[in-house]
Amino acid sequence: MDDLRDKYLAAIANAGDESTLEGLRVQAVGKKGEISLKMRELGKMTPEERQVMGPKLNALKDEINSALAAKKQALSDAALDERLRAEWLDVTLPARSRRMGTIHPVSQVTEEVTAIFADMGFAVAEGPQVESDWHNFDALNIPGHHPARAEMDTFYMHRAEGDNRPPHVLRTHTSPVQIRSMEAQGAPIRVICPGRVYRADYDQTHTPMFHQVEGLAIDKDISMANLKWVLEEFCRAFFEVDGVELRFRASHFPFTEPSAEVDIRCSWADGTLKIGEGDDWLEILGSGMVHPKVLMAGNIDPAAWQGFAFGMGIDRIAMLKYGIPDLRAFFDSDLRWLRHYGFASLDQPTLHGGLSR
Ligand code: DAH
Repeated sequence: MDDLRDKYLAAIANAGDESTLEGLRVQAVGKKGEISLKMRELGKMTPEERQVMGPKLNALKDEINSALAAKKQALSDAALDERLRAEWLDVTLPARSRRMGTIHPVSQVTEEVTAIFADMGFAVAEGPQVESDWHNFDALNIPGHHPARAEMDTFYMHRAEGDNRPPHVLRTHTSPVQIRSMEAQGAPIRVICPGRVYRADYDQTHTPMFHQVEGLAIDKDISMANLKWVLEEFCRAFFEVDGVELRFRASHFPFTEPSAEVDIRCSWADGTLKIGEGDDWLEILGSGMVHPKVLMAGNIDPAAWQGFAFGMGIDRIAMLKYGIPDLRAFFDSDLRWLRHYGFASLDQPTLHGGLSR
């Protein structure tokens, strides 16, 4: 009996997992277990022997059973401890940063431009990319024979056979949104219109699809001076240099009178572009006072209202601000390019938080 006890207690103590333990239980106190068989032998003993052996065997069986139960508990406690150790999580740690793609420079710059103009009271307006010939040209004082139509390398939409109406176009600029805004809301107006535009052109600085932002302000007493101030404020905020200097150069656009192209002072020393210093000038936008015929096309009385407009290439100012050399790469979807020039997805530009950090 002592041998049996020693053997099982030692085996139970050494059992490393629950299935070994279960094996020991069957072997010792199961139906055909060693101890159970011994108890069966009690029947063959004399009453005197039985009186001695009975309690001893029962005590042994109890002892083995409780050793099994204790070991089982210990094993399951250890398993739980192990799991808790493995699945341990410090919920007070900061979230691990995970790169979820990047924001494209065009999106980022559009947000920057929107934030700056929103601060000056401009709302965002949008128009269709497939535009009527009338909104894209005629309403902007570009009649059918006008050379600007040819110069813009327009994409024309397919026309059904026998349909002699002028075909729709992929808008060649965001200026038609001026007309749509006038039609939709009347005067006064203060909007910017960012969006995609299309021209059949392809080289280092031209792609068939690119982005512009249009500006339009119409009120009773808007002048060229307001235009100048707005554009200077914009450039100072956008390029994040206090000393921006703009040059207004007389120009011609059919939809503005007078018209001005705006250049920004810059330097190209050491091959890198610096805005606000140096002796070079870089053209960044077209602008002017809205032509009376354009106001009329938008159902606004030119005797009562006047305004300024401007149009600027978003991709172009993105290239200037962030030193991106080739426009074509903007639309190649090359992941290495996107990782390099893209912006972190939580870096929303705001005037107070910083535009481009
Ligand atoms: N629409 C012109 C272009 O695409 C840019 C432009 C020039 C827009 C002068 C204007 C403006 O609103 O006043 O080249």
